[in-house]
Amino acid sequence: MNYHVLTLFPEMVQQGLNTSIIGRAMDKGLITIDAINIRDYSKDKHKRVDDYPYGGGAGMVMQAEPVYLAYKDVQERIKSAQSSEQSQGKPRVVYVTPQGQLFNQKLAEELAKEDDLIILCGHYEGIDERVLEMIVTDYISIGDYVLTGGELPAMVMIDAISRLIPGVLNNDSSAQFESLQDNLLEYPQYTRPEIFMDRKVPDVLLSGHHANIEKWRRQQSLLRTLKNRPDLLKEANLTEEDRKFLNQL
Ligand code: ADE
Repeated sequence: MNYHVLTLFPEMVQQGLNTSIIGRAMDKGLITIDAINIRDYSKDKHKRVDDYPYGGGAGMVMQAEPVYLAYKDVQERIKSAQSSEQSQGKPRVVYVTPQGQLFNQKLAEELAKEDDLIILCGHYEGIDERVLEMIVTDYISIGDYVLTGGELPAMVMIDAISRLIPGVLNNDSSAQFESLQDNLLEYPQYTRPEIFMDRKVPDVLLSGHHANIEKWRRQQSLLRTLKNRPDLLKEANLTEEDRKFLNQL
């Protein structure tokens, strides 16, 4: 996966993602993150990229031209990188905005299948609508709150998508058996010591009885989801046994 982030703060994106698992994924060549500075495409002698909104109102608006030119340049780069391989079609262009569709695990899984992803980060009061209409394919929000810019949402998305790419996590199965797979929250985890400040690890986990452990974990997932995210249960793939368990609570 090659990410191309159009931003006014490229170093924020690069530095925020070059450590730990995502940093290693870059070292291994499983992902690349290209952060493109929109300001480099300003034709203004002071490299301005924003201006007052038509119609008045608070704040500044990012101008269409530098965003468009930055996008065109990225599109060219992607094309020339692909020229040796077969053409993949036009890459998706995600504009991160609180007005977009809510980002979730399902959308992360869908986007993880792309070869290239262009992510556009806004600042100030937003970006001139005309360039959005011209280039954006997906409007995505990471939650119902407003941040100061699109860089953190872009980083959140890159993290969530990248860990689904084969080879990024050491243990291939750990991306499968986790929170929100199947719309259930993850069961609680424990490690040594067996007793921590008078709190003991649940006996079943020490029993070595794999079927019982699986059953206990499934029930814990169901209980957690019911308590913390009952909305998810409606979408979950419940077995007859799951339903029986929930009904007797
Ligand atoms: N930009 C500002 N707030 C945002 C949010 N919640 N999601 C995506 N992009 C944003």
